Amino acid sequence: MAAARRRRSWAELALACVGLCLSTAFAVDRSNFKTCDQSSFCKRQRSIQPGSSPYRALLDSLELAPDALTVQLVNEVTKVVLLLELQGLQGNMTRIRIDELKPLRPRYRVPDVLVADPPTARLSISGRDENSVELTVAEGPYKIILTGRPFRLDLLENRSLVLSVNARGLMVFEHQRLPRNSFSDKVSLTFGSIWDKIKNLFSRQGPTEPAEGDGTPDEEAAGKADKPEENKEKDDSDEPGAWEEMFKTHSDSKPYGPTSVGLDFSLPGMEHVYGIPEHADNLRLKVTEGGEPYRLYNLDVFQYELYNPMALYGSVPVLLAHNIHRDLGIFWLNAAETWVDISSNTAGKTLFGKMLDYLQGGGETPQTDVRWMSESGIIDVFLLLGPTVSDIFRQYASLTGTQALPPLFSLGYHQSRWNYRDEADVIEVDQGFDNHDIPCDVIWLDIEHADGKRYFTWDSSRFPQPLAMLGHLASKRRKLVAIVDPHIKVDSGYRVHEELRSLGLYVKTRDGSDYEGWCWPGSVGYPDFTDIKMREWWANMFSFDKYEGSASNLYVWNDMNEPSVFNGPEVTMLKDARHHGGWEHRDIHNIYGFYVHMATAEGLIRRSGGVERPFVLSRAFFAGSQRFGAIWTGDNAAEWDHLKISIPMCLSLGLVGLSFCGADVGGFFKNPEPELILRWYQVGAYQPFYRAHSHMDTGRREPWLLPPEYLGPTRDALRQRYALLPFWYTLFYRAHRDGHPVMRPLWVQYPKDVTTFGQDDQYMLGDSLLVHPVTEPGARGVQVYLPGQGEVWYDIQSYQKHHGPQTLYLPVTLSSIPVFQRGGTIIPRWERVRRSSDCMKDDPITLYVAISPQGTAEGELYLDDGHTFNYQTQKKYLHRKFSFSGNTLTSSSADPQGYFETGVWIERVVILGAGKPASVLLQTEGLLENLLDFHHEAETSVLTLRRPGVHVSADWIIYLR
Ligand SMILES: *[C@@H]1O[C@H](CO)[C@@H](O)[C@H](O)[C@H]1NC(C)=O
Ligand SMILES: *[C@@H]1O[C@H](CO)[C@@H](O)[C@H](O)[C@H]1NC(C)=O
Repeated sequence: MAAARRRRSWAELALACVGLCLSTAFAVDRSNFKTCDQSSFCKRQRSIQPGSSPYRALLDSLELAPDALTVQLVNEVTKVVLLLELQGLQGNMTRIRIDELKPLRPRYRVPDVLVADPPTARLSISGRDENSVELTVAEGPYKIILTGRPFRLDLLENRSLVLSVNARGLMVFEHQRLPRNSFSDKVSLTFGSIWDKIKNLFSRQGPTEPAEGDGTPDEEAAGKADKPEENKEKDDSDEPGAWEEMFKTHSDSKPYGPTSVGLDFSLPGMEHVYGIPEHADNLRLKVTEGGEPYRLYNLDVFQYELYNPMALYGSVPVLLAHNIHRDLGIFWLNAAETWVDISSNTAGKTLFGKMLDYLQGGGETPQTDVRWMSESGIIDVFLLLGPTVSDIFRQYASLTGTQALPPLFSLGYHQSRWNYRDEADVIEVDQGFDNHDIPCDVIWLDIEHADGKRYFTWDSSRFPQPLAMLGHLASKRRKLVAIVDPHIKVDSGYRVHEELRSLGLYVKTRDGSDYEGWCWPGSVGYPDFTDIKMREWWANMFSFDKYEGSASNLYVWNDMNEPSVFNGPEVTMLKDARHHGGWEHRDIHNIYGFYVHMATAEGLIRRSGGVERPFVLSRAFFAGSQRFGAIWTGDNAAEWDHLKISIPMCLSLGLVGLSFCGADVGGFFKNPEPELILRWYQVGAYQPFYRAHSHMDTGRREPWLLPPEYLGPTRDALRQRYALLPFWYTLFYRAHRDGHPVMRPLWVQYPKDVTTFGQDDQYMLGDSLLVHPVTEPGARGVQVYLPGQGEVWYDIQSYQKHHGPQTLYLPVTLSSIPVFQRGGTIIPRWERVRRSSDCMKDDPITLYVAISPQGTAEGELYLDDGHTFNYQTQKKYLHRKFSFSGNTLTSSSADPQGYFETGVWIERVVILGAGKPASVLLQTEGLLENLLDFHHEAETSVLTLRRPGVHVSADWIIYLR
């Protein structure tokens, strides 16, 4: 028996291995992308161990101005002097900048990400001794202690330590120096790299390296043409890769040598950290000690792998820390390649170990340490001190702006594919939605629509009459999105290329010629979007006369804007390529895609004379990209795990401001089985950006191609999405106004419930809906955690009421999407689902009132014309507030500043958790009273009030008697 079982398990193992080998065949080729060890600056930075820092703050040099404190920092080994600038910012933020006091050339400071110069709060000195200075920030509970030797900053709130900077002494600031000999660059580089090899050999046999911070100061290090023989002590300029770096066949000449910066932050009391997207990983960040750090470097990763810290298409260098008492944020404003190490003093300890610590007199308090390392630029970091997570959202939004308010249509469903063949195909797909009674707002065209991938043009045989096609879609009240990528075919007959070349607007090589890479069209140039002249030129290209065959219902997506360069190192641009102002690509890499997105959105605004809101989807992004539109999680795969990971990926992005996020429904690569397609439609219906997209090599998968048993529930999922559009639109308005994420981790709503801190298989939409999608094949049920002491949750399909907190086993069928409305909320819906959102925007509203155990509920509705900036420029909007208490439902204005002419009215009110009233009375503004027809379902306690018939902008009261 035992032997037989043993044998079987070996066979299973073998099978598992086959499975593994098969699945790795689809996975990323890791060797195309650097590990920290292969990125010379990361390796150098990471080789520094915690210990005494060589940096000392020269307290005598301290100067206090009304809006900043400056103090010099000296590296006691190299004697190089840095300048630290410290600012208290209004609203519980602190900014720290560190640069060289006398740099050989200026270092890159990231422009255009901050929406304004943040208003400062006055700093004053409130204490001082020989090695430290205590600073008080006006009108805040914070004190900052600056310690001289070794340099360290501590932030305290009411005498308790909140955060420390350089407490572990891991600060590294590689100052600029001249190359080690004065030959021409090329000679020097070759020489340097040969020397590196010799020295490497040497050091392997030689004596042990000097202890850290123990070297003799080399006063003359900078500026001298050292002779290699004399260069004995360990100086980071000698490290392999410091002056030239190879990766595979690619050489990175480093004319300015090593310039990396790094700094550590200690967070006492913190065990849970989040953010720093984009990674295909869980919501809660993992400890990286002993493994790879999280990497932020915008890359086009072919067939990305899940659950690892590899870089993906976008980067937002923002980290959030949370415990039951407070929240903190760190915003590291640097656009160069960045790595983030996370360590924790409790990692790896068992619960028992932690308990033992506790019993033995407290043990250690938990602490998380975060170490940031960037290849160039300066140290520019914002500490967001909360104290609550919604304060952090507000603080971060005050720096980088909020989510752009999307046009209503873009919250509907998008049908995409690489590629819809021709105009007839587009018209047929459009008709398919009508034939099968499925709502859809947008049809998408990928790269094949353009003439030889020359963006802003059309393939004349397949799309001979784009305006007629757009007109046809407009008659259906639908839109088209066409791709416009930032790689431009090198072709003297292509006007876009010719103009950019002659205007000198392409990114250059380090020698000053136009940089050419390889991408979809073949040989291509890359417009230098960091140059405002380039962005202006690009924005003007979207005018209807320049972009021929475009019309007002054509919108745009920017793909490949990391930028993707097929023949470049790590499939991107050489780091020594040159941008406007002489900056290297190294300095600006992570912000390139942000600028493409910015210029494209600006173009769509301009073509309408500033009237219409743009819609632009981007694959690459950076901090602040939320201001320009939507992003998606790139080229995923038709696998259940990819469906699952879409949840933490979008949650992470929402935490750092990018609310308009989605994943390709169905999966981009490979062919999904019908069950996976259906489940993905159900998940996507409850994620912010809802688009199906697929690779050229996959089979067609428009929803009606599904077998009937899957088509029905897929249609239902799409219809649920459309019914909830007023709710989505209102959530986006709040994200736009206040910076709160649309899709939120549970812990944001329940910050004291530790059960929620690691949950990323379920989430909240606003504060009202809890979604726990089905992401397993053949699922019979899901375990849903319903949080909140004293909270009630109503299943939106069955109206069944559940009490929190509990873990509920909910049986599911193919048509189940487990979604719960929190008792205490009111949600607006459009229940007459039509062909597209544009056909529904004047439809009457149904209110869903979910009563709390206290007998109350609140909710809101935002409405405007759905597509212009008139809500902003002319205050043409309605923001209504609904509240229920004491058996009375009231509608009032949430914002009397706005007014918008609309025919929308309230056609029904559904009250969940209500008893049966004797009568229902409606009172409107003009004191009119009338009795309402109602229906009460005793079994589910659902009370439906029929036809209140009141105008949406009116004040009214409904009494249940
Ligand atoms: C600043 O912090 C204090 C104390 O933690 C808090 O009471 C206050 O609301 C915060 N202010 C802002 C604007 O976040
Ligand atoms: C700090 O003190 C202020 C004022 O006394 C108080 O409002 C705040 O809650 C305290 N914060 C903490 C974290 O104890």
